[in-house]
Parts: sequence; C-alpha cells; structure tokens
Amino acid sequence: MIRRGLAVLLMIVLLCVPVSAREVTLYSVGGREKTVSSDEAGSWRQKGWFDRDEVYTDIYSGDGQEREVLNIELSLWEERGWREDPEQLRTVLYSWDGTSEKVWNDFVQERMDNGWVRTPEEVQTALCDGSGNWETVWNAEVEGRLADGWYRTEEEAKVRLYDGDGNSKTVWKAESEALLAQGWSLTPPAPAETAPANVPSDGRPMVALTFDDGPGPYTDRILDCLEKNGAKATFFVVGNRLGTYAAQLRREAELGMEIGCHSWAHSSFTSLGASGTAADIKRTNDRVEELTGVRPMIVRPPYGSHNASVREAAGAPFILWNIDTLDWKTKNADSTFNAVLDKVKDGDIVLMHDIHSPTADAVERIVPALVKRGFSLVTVSELAAARGGMSAGKAYSSFR
Ligand code: NI
Repeated sequence: MIRRGLAVLLMIVLLCVPVSAREVTLYSVGGREKTVSSDEAGSWRQKGWFDRDEVYTDIYSGDGQEREVLNIELSLWEERGWREDPEQLRTVLYSWDGTSEKVWNDFVQERMDNGWVRTPEEVQTALCDGSGNWETVWNAEVEGRLADGWYRTEEEAKVRLYDGDGNSKTVWKAESEALLAQGWSLTPPAPAETAPANVPSDGRPMVALTFDDGPGPYTDRILDCLEKNGAKATFFVVGNRLGTYAAQLRREAELGMEIGCHSWAHSSFTSLGASGTAADIKRTNDRVEELTGVRPMIVRPPYGSHNASVREAAGAPFILWNIDTLDWKTKNADSTFNAVLDKVKDGDIVLMHDIHSPTADAVERIVPALVKRGFSLVTVSELAAARGGMSAGKAYSSFR
C-alpha cells in the first residue's frame, strides 16, 4: 500500500517538473526572439519583451494575401495598401442571375469586365404583366418572363381596340379578351378613301425582318431566300463570330442587307455599364467595318436589356421588336411561321435568329408569303426613313 502511494507521488512529481520549467518565447518590438523559463518571463516582460501577438499583427492585401507583420512596420504596410480588416479590401458584386459574391478589390475590375456589377439594381429589370402589375426580376429571368406574357413597357402591355363606330380605346391586354368578345376589334375599320399617312409611296405595307446572334451556319440559306425574293432584312451580328463567318457577313453586305451591332460577346449592356457598352459596340463595329467596309449604324441590345445611360453611351438608335417569334425557344418552323403571319402589320419589326436550322426553314416560307400578301421587306433603316427617321439614344420596337 505504501509502495503504491510512493509510486503515485513520483508520477505527480514527474508531471509537475516540466510544467514548472516550461519555456516561453518572448519578442522584442523589433521581432527578436528570446526563450526563457516561465518563471523568468515576468521579469523579462518588465524589461520590454512581449508575447508574439502583442508584437505582430495579421494583415491582408487587396488580392487576398495574408501575412504577419511587426506592429512597428504596420503603417508602412498600410501605405502599400495592406489592411488589418479584410472587409475594407472586399466588395460585394452581383451577377445578372442575382448571385452575389464578396470579391477582393484587386479582382473587382476583372469581374466587372465579365458583367458583374456593384448594385443589384443594375442587373434587375422592371417588367409589367398584362394587367399592369410591375415586378422587378433578375436580368437572367427576363427572357423567360417575356415568353410568359410580361412586358418591358406599359405600352407593350396594352392594346388598342376599335369598335365599328369609329371609337377606340387602349386597355390592358388582360382586359382585352372580354372586350373582343363584346365586338371590339384589334384592327381599325378600313379607311374610307385616303390611305393612311404611314403607307410608303409605292403603297405597299412594310415590314423589317431582323436576325440576331449570327452570322452562323444557316445564314447563307436565309440570304439565298431573301435574294431570290428581292427582299431585304437586317442582321444584328455578334462580334466574336465574325472571324468564323466572315464570308457570310460579307455576303450580307454585298446583297444590301443592313448589318447592326448585337455586342461583341452577347453581354447585357446594362451589366457592362455605359463605358463598357460604348467600348463593346465600338469593338464590334470596328470589326464589321474592317471586314465589309460598312459601319453599323444601329444596335440591338442582347436580351433586349437597356436603359437611358447605355443608350446614350451607344450613340446609336436601339432597335427592339414588336413581333417576337420565340424561334430560339420553339425551334419549330411552323410556330415561327405562324408567329409572323398571324400578326404582321405595316411597320412591324420581327425578331428571329439566324443560328437555328428551323428558323431558316421558316424564313423560306415566311418571305414568299409576305411578298404574296403585298408586303415590302425592307431593312430597319429603310423602314425608319419611310416613317420619319430615328435618333441616337432612343429605342424603337416598330415604325408605324
Ligand atoms: Ni441575342
């Protein structure tokens, strides 16, 4: 029993010895190190030696590096842009689908060049439904909403109705069905004798077919069809495709088609901001001019996304559309054909995309059908000229 007690005592002593003789590392303000026993540490501290965290501080740089520096050198590092608080070096950025991320400041410009913005409002768009309700959505959702019957402007969400007695009124599209059932009509009564002022001099109604996102592998088929029918159209081209499809671009120009700008890489102009938009359009137009000798005069914003500041920066008219075939979504020639032929009226601008084979199939039927109906198929600039022209910085979705 006594022997066991001694053994326990011996173990306690053995455990205590290293504790009482523990070593401590202390630092001078200049970073020198000294290892002393914990018993002596108190007196060294009184002589101006410190624990490590009293002498060193963790700091961060704008590109996310972290390092430990002496407190006496802290102001020198701060002059070079390093900070103790990493939050001072990070910025919240937003992308067009509503994702937000904290980005080190050194990488902010790179992100913004790729379409990230500083405030969520810059990547949101207000849309109006057919009853006049407004909702703000992320730009990524805009195309889907437009396909579901939302509109960018109150004007587009309304429709003008006519009765047989020469009365007309403008109502929300949601209200129009009931009125149509009561005998109101979408088309005005035929004019008695004089032709409407906006019919071109040769008397034929005009329509501007437009093709976005090309040139592409189906552009030639569309050009063949336009050429065969003596028709003109407008191609809003994407700059980074022009190298691959330079022959198609040149042929568009040679056939007298209008070439417009649809950005360099299909980035949203509202995400690029005013100066980004100006640079993007210039880069695209420079390339078109280099390849064809003709400089585009009109712009179609990707996703139809625009605001006053990017329109002003662009220095050109923004051309939207009032007949959206949704050809990119349905990829169905019948559906594209019907979208045009069911609605088309004098002064309309029709949106299609020359990068889909079913669209080329549809165009081969749409163009002769429109010609047969008596339409003159013209470029956007020709249509605008016949209707009093257009101005830089303004947006147009038809020329009635
Ligand atoms: Ni597009």
